[in-house]
Amino acid sequence: MEHTKPSYYITTPIYYVNAKPHLGTAYCTVMADVQARFQRACGCDVKFLTGMDEHGEKVAEAAEKNGFDSPQAWCDSMEPAFRDLWKTLNISNDDFIRTTQPRHVAGVQKFLKTLLDRGYIYKDAYDGWYCRPDETYFTETQVHHHEEERLAAGEAPADPEHPLCPDCDRPLERIQEESWFFKLSEFQQPLLDFYEAHPDFIQPETRRNEVLSFVKGGLKDLSISRSTFDWGVPFPFDEKHVAYVWVDALINYLSAVGYGAEGEDAADELAYRWPAQVHVVGKDIIRFHCVIWPALLMAAGLPLPERVFVHGFLTVRNEETGKIEKMSKSRGNAIAPEEVIDLLGVDAYRYYFMSDVVHGTDAPISWGRMRQVYNADLANSWGNLVSRTLNMSAKYFDGCAPARPASFDEPSPLRDACRGIFERYAERMKAMDYGGAASEVLSIVSAANHYIEDMAPWALAKDPEKADELALVIWNLLEVIRIASELYDPFMPSISAEVRRRLSLATEPTADLASACAWGGLAGGAPVEKGDPLFPRLVD
Ligand code: ME8
Ligand code: MG
Repeated sequence: MEHTKPSYYITTPIYYVNAKPHLGTAYCTVMADVQARFQRACGCDVKFLTGMDEHGEKVAEAAEKNGFDSPQAWCDSMEPAFRDLWKTLNISNDDFIRTTQPRHVAGVQKFLKTLLDRGYIYKDAYDGWYCRPDETYFTETQVHHHEEERLAAGEAPADPEHPLCPDCDRPLERIQEESWFFKLSEFQQPLLDFYEAHPDFIQPETRRNEVLSFVKGGLKDLSISRSTFDWGVPFPFDEKHVAYVWVDALINYLSAVGYGAEGEDAADELAYRWPAQVHVVGKDIIRFHCVIWPALLMAAGLPLPERVFVHGFLTVRNEETGKIEKMSKSRGNAIAPEEVIDLLGVDAYRYYFMSDVVHGTDAPISWGRMRQVYNADLANSWGNLVSRTLNMSAKYFDGCAPARPASFDEPSPLRDACRGIFERYAERMKAMDYGGAASEVLSIVSAANHYIEDMAPWALAKDPEKADELALVIWNLLEVIRIASELYDPFMPSISAEVRRRLSLATEPTADLASACAWGGLAGGAPVEKGDPLFPRLVD
């Protein structure tokens, strides 16, 4: 098959189906969606993948606890919760992978076989610590080190039978069993060399440094199979073992693009899509994505993804302890996205989390701040600009937009404000600095609101000699609205389409954003529709 456009392959983590998705899960998914939409607007052929991580003990336990007779039935029952939320939030994923799908199982088995053939796995006895909620193994040293840190911080000693997890502080379990091991220890130097040769591989910088120091501290071989339960992908060469859920899960990024399938089409897809441009992940799973996954790919002889973008956590205050905690399914402190959607609506929900919650760091959820951002940026600035301008246009130009005036490209405040807007915005978008990108758009919107005050179109409208000037002023404003609707589209797809509809423009977003941002695109002369306010003001 011939591919005329460059591929842009972007992924979210595949989420555990131990509970329904929440604000945190949605945060990551929306973040990836904004990038997917932006890359489509830049002319890429995007594959945007999300899905569900269905294997492992945690899921099997959730199935049992919820009274299902098989983990599969439980997973099937959970699928709508994820799919429906993504639909509600206008997530434009091109694929939805489930790790119980045959294509994925085939991918995992092929991968394991490849590791065996290339000599990177071996069987041995495992004896160590295991965090069940996180499905993560820890060495004696890691656990000991964490306990010392806790004691130094003045915390009470942990039960020696159940020391606490270095990642999440929940009790660990001792595990002893026969297991397959991946020779992770052989990849310390190759990984360090790779990070050095690809300084942008892990973003932001603070996360990169965290990974570097972790890897410099040395790597131990990793247990990659379990034989005490069977809810997983069987090892193709040792049926008593199922793949460790994390190794299973990571391979989804490959099995979704043809790895493990037979035939020319699959090979073609894999060559076109892999390596991925970016994996978007939370900081809780950074080691899996920045250490284990690259090492597994190196061992299998496959290219590494171009970038892992690591975001922080949405946090909530624990009412009992007063501590700030990560919002999570397993902690049961999650806020349902529906609650926020009820307050803000979907587009403003997306806008709030993407523009205001800084993408590298943790952020507490605040209803007050949501209202504030909504009223300032959306009700008073963007929404207000659209309704004032469309109103005036309809009123002064017989329900239409004025035709593009001959002098449209002469220097003027709004034309000048939009100079280079695409470049400034695109640079921030590519860096996943959505707050920066959104404030670039807000700057042209604000410039337009000021321009209305300065030009006072209502006064021009009273003077028949100023008809040309009035037409130019309204056209300028409509042109800013057209451009802003394209720039806001990745954040607020429905409302941006609605704005274009009211302007009699194509509602589909552009596939050539750079050209769409060029000044002068609006021909004018077509009907405009005032419509209802896009963002009615919120009161406390
Ligand atoms: O870890 N704030 O799945 P998971 C922001 N199945 N993001 C949050 C969040 C919060 N409070 N809580 C969760 C797994 N997330 C594995 C992934 S990938 C091959 C396998 C987001 O359901 C964040 O992106 O625990 C985090 O990394 C992800 O959900 C973990 O989801
Ligand atoms: Mg988790």
